[in-house]
Amino acid sequence: MIILGIETSCDETAAAIVAADGDAAPGRVLSNVVLSQLDDHRPYGGVVPEIAARAHLQHLDRLIRQALDEAGMGLDGIDGIAATAGPGLIGGVMVGVMTAKAIAAVRNLPFAAVNHLEGHALTARLTNGVTFPFLLLLVSGGHCQLLAVEGVGRYRRLGTTIDDAVGEAFDKAAKLMGLGYPGGPLMEQAAGRATDPSRFPLPVPMKGRPDCDFSFSGLKTAVRRHVELLGDAATDADMADLAASFHIAVGDSLIDRCDRAMKLFREQWPEGRTLVVAGGVAANQILRARLTKLCAKRKFDFVAPPLKLCTDNAAMIAWAGLERLRLGLVDGLDFAPRPRWPLDPAAAKAGAKA
Ligand code: KG4
Ligand code: ZN
Repeated sequence: MIILGIETSCDETAAAIVAADGDAAPGRVLSNVVLSQLDDHRPYGGVVPEIAARAHLQHLDRLIRQALDEAGMGLDGIDGIAATAGPGLIGGVMVGVMTAKAIAAVRNLPFAAVNHLEGHALTARLTNGVTFPFLLLLVSGGHCQLLAVEGVGRYRRLGTTIDDAVGEAFDKAAKLMGLGYPGGPLMEQAAGRATDPSRFPLPVPMKGRPDCDFSFSGLKTAVRRHVELLGDAATDADMADLAASFHIAVGDSLIDRCDRAMKLFREQWPEGRTLVVAGGVAANQILRARLTKLCAKRKFDFVAPPLKLCTDNAAMIAWAGLERLRLGLVDGLDFAPRPRWPLDPAAAKAGAKA
C-alpha cells in the first residue's frame, strides 16, 4: 500500500509518500517534503493563521508534485490520500483537506481524514514498528498530553496540560529572554552554553500530584521575574544559565508526570512496555536523555522517532492514513475539517479541545 499524505494544520506545508508491505509495521518513507513558514511568521513572534493559510495555498501543489517526483512515481502509483483534518488552524486545515479530496475525487482513490495527533501518535510504528499498547508522551507547541495508545483510533488520555503546552512554554520563555523564535531549539542551544545550570530557582509544576496533568504558565511567570530582576545588565551568560535552569524545571516536571503515568499504565495495560515520545519538543536532547534514564529505571523501552519525524511533517499523516485505510477506515468526501478534535472520546465529552 502506498499513501500520499498532506499536512497543513500549522506553519509547515508538507507532503510525503509512505509505503507498507501487507499488515506489517514499520513502514517505508519514500519521500518527505517539508516547507517551513518560519521566516513568514518570525516578525510576529508566533504563527499568524491568515498568513499560514495563504502560504499553504501557494505552495501545496508544488510540494505534492515534488513528493511524487522524489518517490519516483505519479498519482497513478498511489493507493490512497490522507490529509490532516484537524485539530489545528482551520484555514490551513481546509487547504490540505480540499486538495486531498479533489485528488481523491478525480482519481477515485480512498480518502483518510487524519487527526494530527494520531499522526504524531503512530509515528513510532512507522519508524520502529512499536506494537500496541504503548504509552505516549506528546509534547509540541500546541499539545502536552500523556496517552495510552491501544490501537489505531483507540486512545485513552491519562493527562493533559491545564494551561500552556510545553513547546509554548519554551517559545514564551525564549521570547521573554530575548532569544528569538521558535524558542525550543534556541533555549536548548543557550542551555548548552551554561556554566551554572542550577543557578536560578524555578518551580517544578505539578510535582507529586496524583493525576498526570501538566501546567507550564507558572514557570513562564517565574522566568519573567528572573528576567526582570536581571534587568538591562543581563548578559548572554545569565541567559544561558536561565535557559539551563528552565530545562531542569521542565525536565523535573515531565519526569514526575511520566513516572506517574507509567505506574497507571502498568496497572491497566500490563502487557505494554514502551514509552514513545512525539511532537516538536521531543527533538530536545536534554529532555530525551532524562526520559531515557527514567525508562531504564522503570524497565520501559524508550522510543523517540528521528528528529525530522518529531516535528510536523506529512510522513506521519500518510502513515496514520495508511494504518486507517488498511483497516477499511475510509472517510467520505463530505468530512468537515475540525479545528478541535480530541483523540480520546471521553476527553471530548468532557469538553477538551484537543
Ligand atoms: O510538533 P511541532 O512541530 O508543532 C506543533 O506544535 O504541532 O512542535 C513545535 C514546537 C515549538 O513550540 C518548538 O519551540 C518546539 O516544538 N521545539 C522544541 C525543540 N524543537 C522544537 N522545544 C524544545 N527543544 C527543542 N529542541
Ligand atoms: Zn504537531
